[in-house]
Amino acid sequence: MYQEFTPEVLVLPTPKDVDRYAAGCVIAQINGKHDSVLTLPTGATPQGMYERLVQLFKQGQVDFSRVTTFNLDEYFPIPESHPASYAEYMKTHFFRHVNVPSSNIYLPNGQAESAHTEATRFDRLIQQRGPVDLAVLGIGPGKTCHIGFNERGSQVDSRTRYMPLDPQTREANAVFFKDPNEMPVGSITQGIRNILEAQRILLIAKGERKAWGIKRSLTCKPSSDVPASFLRFHPDVCFILDEGAAELLRSKYIALKK
Ligand code: PGA
Repeated sequence: MYQEFTPEVLVLPTPKDVDRYAAGCVIAQINGKHDSVLTLPTGATPQGMYERLVQLFKQGQVDFSRVTTFNLDEYFPIPESHPASYAEYMKTHFFRHVNVPSSNIYLPNGQAESAHTEATRFDRLIQQRGPVDLAVLGIGPGKTCHIGFNERGSQVDSRTRYMPLDPQTREANAVFFKDPNEMPVGSITQGIRNILEAQRILLIAKGERKAWGIKRSLTCKPSSDVPASFLRFHPDVCFILDEGAAELLRSKYIALKK
């Protein structure tokens, strides 16, 4: 049915190396195709990558003026102006500092009246503006192994939709909310199918708390119990890991360590 591929796995010494390498891949993509379409992540992991991208932009090494971006996900419901919304995150860490035209920036609207209608609208936009050239992803905490907010149970052919958050996701992300009771119970997320439709995928992970999920994603039979394992159905995926996130990987991958 689905063909399985072996992802590239790159293990770098430090989290900073992951940031720099991932930013380098994004820049190479844009410099090779100025009107690239990107899928972008949020969370603690990519903050360093955005910092580096902003730095390289300020040094004149990249121009985002023809780039289009789609975010992976947004909490639902959440006001756009909420300090923990992904709309706010993207402005703070990236969009305020670079020249992606605001008309080329797409995030699911966390304050839409209907999550379903909003998810359908967002999905249509990706299909109209796509295909995505490069999707950058993190991986969810603990046993979730989510990509975007595709929590356990997500199907390989899923598209953008409302997704209730896994209790482990809620626990991990509560730190981003001043009052944890304000944390939404749901999200709108690109589906696994949307992610797999990108031409190229990078998954970045740092630290030992991601090691279990990385190991499962690379070694278990692809299944909706481990959403990130579905990435093995894509022919061009690179896992960019620091030593901590790679610590449970054994000989099969050790040769790739630098
Ligand atoms: P984190 O989140 O970078 O905050 O660990 C990653 C994710 O949930 O995809």
